[in-house]
Amino acid sequence: PLQPVLLSGGSGTRLWPLSREAYPKQFLPLAGERTMLQDTWLRVAGLAGDAAPLVVANEEHRFLAAEQLRQVGVEHAAIVLEPVGRNTAPAIAAAALQAMAGGDDPLLLVLPSDHVVRDADAFRDAVRAASPAAAEGALVTFGIVPESPETGFGYIQAEPGEGVRRVLRFVEKPDADTARQYLEAGGYYWNSGMFLLRASRYLEELGRFRPDILAAVRAAFDAAKRDGDFVRLDKDAFAASPSDSIDYAVMEKTDRAMVLPVDIGWNDVGSWSALWDVSEQDGDGNARHGDVIAVDSRNSYAYARRLVALVGVEDLVVVETDDAVLVARKDKVQQVKDVVARLKADQ
Ligand code: GDD
Ligand code: MG
Repeated sequence: PLQPVLLSGGSGTRLWPLSREAYPKQFLPLAGERTMLQDTWLRVAGLAGDAAPLVVANEEHRFLAAEQLRQVGVEHAAIVLEPVGRNTAPAIAAAALQAMAGGDDPLLLVLPSDHVVRDADAFRDAVRAASPAAAEGALVTFGIVPESPETGFGYIQAEPGEGVRRVLRFVEKPDADTARQYLEAGGYYWNSGMFLLRASRYLEELGRFRPDILAAVRAAFDAAKRDGDFVRLDKDAFAASPSDSIDYAVMEKTDRAMVLPVDIGWNDVGSWSALWDVSEQDGDGNARHGDVIAVDSRNSYAYARRLVALVGVEDLVVVETDDAVLVARKDKVQQVKDVVARLKADQ
């Protein structure tokens, strides 16, 4: 059996002022009619038979997650609630424990709930193609052909060949020079952050490299309180877990990693310029969300709740919400997270 796991714990600070701690980007309809969480589930629902999604989210977002899934026909999703964020290695461990609680040992299809995949058919085919390797115990990731020396991604050096192959090297978030070398060398892929792995195998590998994380999550799960569809991890036990991502904690270290390169129209919508990339654009390259008039303007992104007019501008991002306005150069949008950091510091 295949168990989709929707990771829904990020805060998406680079999409401020739309994405907020109380309402992060996975719960917003940023790239279509439905929210990103809803799209993520609908993309894979057909693969899961009658399995419901397993969601791992911050406690604060429990009703948002439950309600948004209900809106797309999921009556009962198991929702594992984190009292505090400890990054993806613990989150996936909690999902694995929950998935095995009934005595099964399913393949977990671990999915960030805030990515865009334009070709869902191709993605589902890829999951099917990766299943035999995962069933045999590989930790399979889906590789994306890199377009630029991005430093926000994991880089995977794949064994030459076809289809699912061994990972020769996994390097999480290399510096810019290293990323450039990888691109020049060829044979490297970006880690999409989507994984297919057997629940017990993930726990085994985590136990091998980070027994401290595994022990803390086990304790938090054993002391969890069940409350309808919610599984509330024990606060003190979970807070005692070190914070780390699956990429650093397991994927960089394991010798059981495999990769399936895919061409699925993937985008992790990590910034406003990425959102501009995946949005529908008019003839001048402007992506307009809401009430936006563009005159003599090009290659810009505007999001408006009130009326916004662009005149004579290029490569700009303008985001207007009820309580904040962002105006940024499109090539500087990575620094939006600095605004959030400053706001936090001033609090
Ligand atoms: N439940 C839960 N709890 N989910 C979390 C937590 C947490 O503490 N932290 C992050 N997530 C979710 C995020 O919501 C996101 O959907 C996903 O896990 C990945 O976390 P990010 O914080 O977005 O990771 P990243 O973008 O820095 O890096 C990862 O993704 C890249 C591709 O987008 C890595 O896997 C990279 O190797 C990869 O290239
Ligand atoms: Mg991300």
